[in-house]
Parts: sequence; structure tokens; C-alpha cells
Amino acid sequence: FNGVGNRTPLFIRFSTVAGESGSADTLRDPRGFSVKFYTEEGNYDIVGNNTPIFFIRDAIKFPDFIHTQKRHPQTHLKNPTAVWDFWAHSPESLHQVTWLMGDRGIPATWRHMHGYGSHTFKWTNTDGEGVWIKYHFRTEQGVKCLTNEVATKLAGENPDYHTEDLFNAIEKGDFPEWKLYVQIMPLEDANTYRFDPFDVTKVWSQKDYPLIEVGRMVLNRNPENYFAEVEQATFSPGTLVPGVDVSPDKMLQGRLFAYHDAHRYRVGANHQSLPINRARVDVNNYQRDGQMRFDGNGGSSVYYEPNSFSGPKEVAEAKQHAFPVEGIADSVAYDQDDHYTQAGDLYRLMSEEERTRLVETIVASMKPVELEEIKLRQIS
Ligand code: HEM
Repeated sequence: FNGVGNRTPLFIRFSTVAGESGSADTLRDPRGFSVKFYTEEGNYDIVGNNTPIFFIRDAIKFPDFIHTQKRHPQTHLKNPTAVWDFWAHSPESLHQVTWLMGDRGIPATWRHMHGYGSHTFKWTNTDGEGVWIKYHFRTEQGVKCLTNEVATKLAGENPDYHTEDLFNAIEKGDFPEWKLYVQIMPLEDANTYRFDPFDVTKVWSQKDYPLIEVGRMVLNRNPENYFAEVEQATFSPGTLVPGVDVSPDKMLQGRLFAYHDAHRYRVGANHQSLPINRARVDVNNYQRDGQMRFDGNGGSSVYYEPNSFSGPKEVAEAKQHAFPVEGIADSVAYDQDDHYTQAGDLYRLMSEEERTRLVETIVASMKPVELEEIKLRQIS
């Protein structure tokens, strides 16, 4: 990120949200777009989606949201009633729901979709000056989508359709590419922008903050072993390098803790030492022990800091950009009054045919909802 011509090896995992491993690739769902950069200063993860926005803006709502996406505790079936009940009670979801029910809700392949960091992040330069930024990975293959009919057919005939497409494309040398752009907002603009720029249910206007090209991402190698590399990979929005920082986005703040908790449970305390997750540069820290510690565990070296035995020192090489904060610290719902303008803008961008497909998809998705009240609430 800090030099023209620099090449950074990376690893990427695409995923669906609601489905378990083995569920059909072509279901209507946002796609996970997780990128791990093995930089010269350690690993940097951008754990984004193929959409620039999200269903909610407050991390405290996430466990309930994700319950509605998963299976019913008794029937073990997907539950459209819960999905629409939550959305109808959470009007901030409308922008993401309009996106999801629109054409882009089912990408043709993982090669034919954009990727986004979605949240606002902060970059700090060597003079200690900060800016707010958003990431956009734009596919060089062009955006292509599947209709409901084709996606449903494929789900039956070849549930691994996207996985197979990507593997085969890379295998035959048809390497997919994305251009990486950022939008940059001067720090002081955040105080006066017409909406909260840290609200992940909204996009920043590209007229206000145009896309600036900063790099190119090429996927030119398949994993050698699915379990070792794909299954055991651990991504976290909290995996940062000097010069890149988070923003006050409440969703992002919540995510900083959640992912490493999941990693300790899902992979183990020493997941960062596994080959796929290990930084490609020396890592000097005082972490020791834990289940499945499979390297030398720091040998007999000093195991705390500060120390008098020439052990590595914690040095902040990049100055963090400081910014003033004021106000009351309290536990209050993070709510905004405008849930609808950007959802409407997205609708108005659609062609007549797209609008018709959007409505058909919403109707089909809502049909099994058990309570009339939920349908009425969502429609109103
Ligand atoms: C407060 C909100 C959120 C919480 C608490 C949360 C939590 C989690 C957890 C615990 C995992 C599993 C991690 C693992 O096992 O390695 C996960 C996966 C994931 N989340 Fe979130 N998430 C949140 C919001 C988001 C948002 C807004 C995005 C996209 C912008 C996102 C993108 C992803 C992706 C792409 C994965 C799969 C990562 C991978 O490939 O390993 N999440 N999330």
C-alpha cells in the first residue's frame, strides 16, 4: 500500500453467509470477500463483503441478526419468517435488503463481483496525518449475475458451481483480477457530512469522494490443500499493520473482538502460527503456550517486556493519528432517522426490468412468512 510497484502476496476466501459448508453456492446471499495481505510489516486483513453496506449499523444487534439467517432451533430449517421479522423491525436494513433482493444478490461467479471493505477505516501517513477511507475492489471481469431460475437450477445440478468456476479458471491460467480503489474523506469532513460517514448501512457519494486507484489484485494460484489453507485460514478486521487503523464505526468496533474469539474456538489459540495465517516476516512477541503450540514456543528466551535481557521491544514505528473525542459515554441505541433515502436511490438506479425482478424476488421470499403483520410492517 505504500509504494508504486510493491507486490504483496495475499490469500482470499469467498463465502456465503447463511449456508454451511457444502450448501449451494448459488443461493441469494451476500458473499464474504476476505483478503489477507502478507505485508512487509505483518499481516493485514480486509474482511469485507461483495456489498458496500450491511443490514444493521450497531454491533449489539448482530447476534440476533445472524440467528435469523441460520436454522430454526426446532425444525432445523431456514426460516423466512424470522428473516423478514427481523428486517421489518430493523428499517436500517432496507438499503442492504434492496441490494440483496436485486440482481446483484446472486453473482454469476465469484470472479464477476466487486468486493468492499464496507466500513470506514483510517489511513495515517508518515507525517502522522490521518484520513478516513473506504476500500473498493472492482472486478476486471465485469459484474455478472444469475437470475433466480438459473441459480435454482444450478443449486440442484452443481451446488459447488462457484467453487468449481474459480478453481478451474485459475488452474487454466485465466487469472481473475480486481482493481483496488479507495475513497478518501478528510477527517474534518466527518463532522459536517450530511449523514454519519461511519454508518455501515450507507455509502459515501462517489461525487463527493471519487474512487482513487491504488492497486491491482490478481488471483494466480490455487491452494494446494483445502483444509490446511482454506479451512484453517483465520481473518479478522483487527489484524492491522502500522498506518492502517479502524474508525468509530460501531459495527467495526464490535467486530474487532468477535473474530479472534471465533478463531480461538474454531481453530485454536495458536491459529496465527499455522502456515496459512503466519506472517511472512519475523514476528517477535512474548506470547507463549496454549493448545497445539507446534513450534519452539520461544525456547528459553525472555518471556516478558520490558526486560533487561535485550528482548524485542514494543515500538510503535508508525505514529497513530490522534483525534479529539467529546460527548457523553452511555449505552444508547445507535439509530439515525433516515433509513430510506439510499435504498430509494438504489431503486431509482434500476431499470424497469430490474425493478420488476426485485419485486418478484421479494414477493417469492416473503410468501412463506407466517404472520400477515410482518409482511405489512415490511411493506409499510
Ligand atoms: C458486529 C458485526 C459482526 C460480527 C460480530 C461478526 C462476526 C463474525 C464471526 C464471529 C465470524 C466467524 C469468524 C471465523 O470463524 O473465522 C464472521 C465471519 C465473517 N464475517 Fe462477520 N461479523 C460482523 C459483521 C460483518 C460485516 C459488516 C461484514 C462485512 C463487511 C462481515 C464479513 C464477514 C466475513 C467475510 C466472514 C467470513 C470470514 C472468513 O472468510 O474467514 N461481518 N463474522
